[in-house]
Amino acid sequence: METLTAIAARRSASRLGPPAPSPTDLRRILEAAASAPDHEHLRPWLFVVLAGEAKDAMGEVLANAYAARCRARGQEPTEGQLAKERGKLGRAPLVLVVAARVRPHPKVPEPEQLASAAAAAQNALLAATDLGYGSMWRTGDAAYDPEVKAALGLRPEDAVVGFLYLGSLPGGRPPAPHRPELDGLVTEWQPSPPMGPDGADRAGGSPA
Ligand SMILES: Cc1cc2nc3c(=O)[nH]c(=O)nc-3n(C[C@H](O)[C@H](O)[C@H](O)COP(=O)(O)O)c2cc1C
Repeated sequence: METLTAIAARRSASRLGPPAPSPTDLRRILEAAASAPDHEHLRPWLFVVLAGEAKDAMGEVLANAYAARCRARGQEPTEGQLAKERGKLGRAPLVLVVAARVRPHPKVPEPEQLASAAAAAQNALLAATDLGYGSMWRTGDAAYDPEVKAALGLRPEDAVVGFLYLGSLPGGRPPAPHRPELDGLVTEWQPSPPMGPDGADRAGGSPA
């Protein structure tokens, strides 16, 4: 698939079935992620693969963390809410967590390292699309929960950039490709006319 074709074809699918990406395909997806632009080669990314029974165990972590967040707000979670959290990772056979471990750096401020991790996530989605898999980038409160981060082997200060849900499209039917709309998004910058000595621009206008 051509790169532009993959970009247009990538559409979020909220429910994905088996098969999960094969080990070979998962490696290609991870290598695509780790090819993201990376100022000063800091490699500010961490990837955690959730699959099989481990994914079920992480569902339990999500439910417990959700319960703790509710109780911290003085609310008791319902069984239905807990079941929903427990089942969230079941929306795809494999979930790839993309995280950023940002380090202080004199030339590469934090937003650049986060941007690199977001680029890694997008590279992973495009690679998955190219290989014929469906995907969806999700976050939610769990992405910001220190208990979830700890269970994933991350530090509280690490940023979970996304839970990438990966699997096969039900019926193998890809959703309609993107038709992006550029209206209002793009301008072509032009220099202001130079100012004359009296503050008026040389084109005859007056200063704002
Ligand atoms: C950082 C990030 C986090 C997101 N988190 C969620 C999420 O938790 N739940 C959700 O339904 N969509 C989430 N989305 C949006 C979807 O991934 C998707 O982009 C959106 O539904 C538009 O669909 P499309 O990808 O087919 O264009 C997130 C997107 C980004 C970039």
